[in-house]
Amino acid sequence: MTEFSTNQDLDPAKLRNAFGVFPTGVVAVAAEVDGSPTGLAASSFTSVSLDPPLVSFSVANTSKTWPDLRRAKHLGVTILADHHGEVCRQLAGPVERRFDGVAIKASDDGAVTLDEGLAQFDTTIYREVEAGDHIIVLLELHAVEHPQAGNPLIFHRSGFGKLAV
Ligand SMILES: Cc1cc2nc3c(=O)[nH]c(=O)nc-3n(C[C@H](O)[C@H](O)[C@H](O)COP(=O)(O)O)c2cc1C
Repeated sequence: MTEFSTNQDLDPAKLRNAFGVFPTGVVAVAAEVDGSPTGLAASSFTSVSLDPPLVSFSVANTSKTWPDLRRAKHLGVTILADHHGEVCRQLAGPVERRFDGVAIKASDDGAVTLDEGLAQFDTTIYREVEAGDHIIVLLELHAVEHPQAGNPLIFHRSGFGKLAV
């Protein structure tokens, strides 16, 4: 059995490595803000509740995009497909190029989703919970589409992978 030593130095790099052992999917959280598509990639997405329908993701307190994004009436959430590795990097890169060459749709309420995602959700912010250096954002679902067959993009140990089916 693993022995836990006390007073471990839980430095961020060590924690990041340990957290990265847990594989996740990746979503794009996006909306039209002041007429421009605005958004980011997030691997912290998870389903939370069926009634009411809720999902969550965590956003860093340092995010420059979140203060704009949270002003949108509705937020789109798209589950990225396994061919979205580059798109995902782009959604985490320079703000002005995040949606270059990416096929997107905006709803009347401003939720932005990616056409080629595996599933798309139309959401509004249900609650924001302070959580250390992140904010846990609970999103209420208003509509869901999952038209695409296919496999999700997997984020694991800081790299992208695919499901071995
Ligand atoms: C695979 C992947 C997953 C990410 N997951 C998150 C996340 O869950 N929460 C978060 O705040 N940032 C996450 N990021 C970083 C954001 O996409 C973005 O780069 C970061 O928020 C900085 O940009 P901003 O200042 O516009 O928010 C992730 C990046 C990548 C590539």
